[in-house]
Amino acid sequence: MKAIAVRPGTPNSVHLADIPMPELASIPNGLGVKVQVLQVGVDATDREINDGLYGNPPAGFDYLVLGHEVFGRVIEVGPAVRKVKPGDHVSCTVRRPGSSIYDQIGRNDITNDEVYYERGINLLHGFLTEYFVDHEEFIVRIPDSMKHIGVLAEPASVVAKGLEQAWLAQQRLQVWRPQTAWVLGAGQIGLLATIMLRLRGLDVITFARQPAPGNIKAEIVTATGAQYVSTAETSLTSISLSQKNQPDVIFEATGSSQTAFKAMQFLGRNGVLIWTSVTGGTHTASIPADQINLQWVLGNKLLLGTVNGNNRHFEIGITDMALAEAMYPCLLSRILTTRIPGLSHFAEAIQLLVNGKDLKIVVEVASND
Ligand code: BGC
Ligand code: ZN
Repeated sequence: MKAIAVRPGTPNSVHLADIPMPELASIPNGLGVKVQVLQVGVDATDREINDGLYGNPPAGFDYLVLGHEVFGRVIEVGPAVRKVKPGDHVSCTVRRPGSSIYDQIGRNDITNDEVYYERGINLLHGFLTEYFVDHEEFIVRIPDSMKHIGVLAEPASVVAKGLEQAWLAQQRLQVWRPQTAWVLGAGQIGLLATIMLRLRGLDVITFARQPAPGNIKAEIVTATGAQYVSTAETSLTSISLSQKNQPDVIFEATGSSQTAFKAMQFLGRNGVLIWTSVTGGTHTASIPADQINLQWVLGNKLLLGTVNGNNRHFEIGITDMALAEAMYPCLLSRILTTRIPGLSHFAEAIQLLVNGKDLKIVVEVASND
């Protein structure tokens, strides 16, 4: 069967590969689930892997099948599977357990191991292919009524985890009533964060480079009642000076480590800054270190790095997406701006990713009707 693969470490090595059909029996104890892939979303992580900056092939392979944001339909299940049945729509988690205590308790998203296993990213083949098989533990059911946005389940899990961890960590304060949030970046993660923070009742300002007119990102942001600010027109500093209150939450999702550090200057007292950008490059940053250090110490501020999401975060993300459908009808599907018809058009998908103009690119592997 067809698959889209790269040779990690070699820039622009994306190619169409022919790989064997996966076997249900490869998962022991009758717990395998075989899924027909319908859609796969691609994101900046795929671009970084194709740039040769990130990712590794599985042991014994010189290539890695890409794709970690999957939506599909179950076609076969092992005799012991309880969670799903043929015909069900599903997504699948990305990370697989290593050996740390966290992996053993189902929290491989916070593994202590140096080496981590992620489908389509690190040491495990991904989902940009026609069928995959996995253990039922990692399969996540998506309601049929959400099949038009099911491909957003993985990125939604990443945002859901970041917010859940921040809210848990803020219990350190005994009383925390966050009112304002800044979201930096309006890619899929920034937009999902905007929506989920609005669902939690916060006033949100979302910052991104592009000016607002004719910009779908700005339209999605403002449809939730959040404010969109183009940093090409207005700086973070001037917004910060014009606001009564500094943000209680900053959710950083620009993909720029420099912005991640810069954000530290704007967080309010007792606030939490959530870092989600995965930056495989070698950029450095110059920051007003004394000033930030002083403000962070005197203001009891918290910096939280977060990556990946486990089954529970997928479930929170899917629940939030269902609520978003009710609050802001048809808004989520507007994130899915660009559809690539079939695996053989892989070069187009990568070219669009490299150009960076499209909000969300989805490869339509098979019909989703
Ligand atoms: C994925 C996460 C993954 C992370 C780091 C992100 O693009 O969405 O699931 O853990 O990359 O590899
Ligand atoms: Zn991703």
